[in-house]
Amino acid sequence: MKKKAIQSLAVQTKMVLPSDTNPLNTLFGGRLLAWMDEIASISAHRHCGRVVVTASINNVSFDKPIVAGEIVTLEAKVSRAFTSSMEVFVDVYVEQSNGKREKCNEAIYVFVAIDQNRNPIDVPALIPESVEEKDRFDSALRRKQLSLVLAGRMNPEDATELKTALFPNK
Ligand SMILES: CC(C)(COP(=O)(O)OP(=O)(O)OC[C@H]1O[C@@H](n2cnc3c(N)ncnc32)[C@H](O)[C@@H]1OP(=O)(O)O)[C@@H](O)C(=O)NCCC(=O)NCCS
Repeated sequence: MKKKAIQSLAVQTKMVLPSDTNPLNTLFGGRLLAWMDEIASISAHRHCGRVVVTASINNVSFDKPIVAGEIVTLEAKVSRAFTSSMEVFVDVYVEQSNGKREKCNEAIYVFVAIDQNRNPIDVPALIPESVEEKDRFDSALRRKQLSLVLAGRMNPEDATELKTALFPNK
């Protein structure tokens, strides 16, 4: 079975309250990570319909501080499904007073679907449709290899797609 990327879309809107902030009155990074983890896990669950666990959080970028009182929207979507694991992108936007939104953060999560015995279980393949979905799908394999190499789960020599991306002329 295959599922479209858009079927995994999960969206959540939050207002940044004083209890969410650090002494600079901006959103505490750990709070944003928790919000992103939650919405990303909902997206992964929508894709596979199974219990999912976070296997890895890759490439979190905090590009712009978010101030108390601002309205934040998190959008999560599966970018690629492998055998039991799924890569999920979370894009974070701040709503401006004119209604426009500005992207301020991004994170890439990896979730694994597990069965009743906590063993990894196969997930449906993903069909990317938009240009962005196709770009993220195409680059997901090298991110998976980088994540596995960093976790000590893959020999760098075996990370062929990653090596080709990093050293295209070798
Ligand atoms: C994630 C977990 C289920 C993997 O189980 P495992 O027995 O090591 O299983 P495998 O080695 O077969 O890996 C399963 C999948 O996860 C992927 N994976 C595991 N670690 C990964 C990592 N660091 N980065 C990217 N992918 C990873 C594997 O590549 C594999 O993907 P595939 O089946 O799509 O090819 C297991 O390590 C676990 O339960 N971890 C704790 C999860 C948790 O509690 N999260 C919350 C943190 S508080």
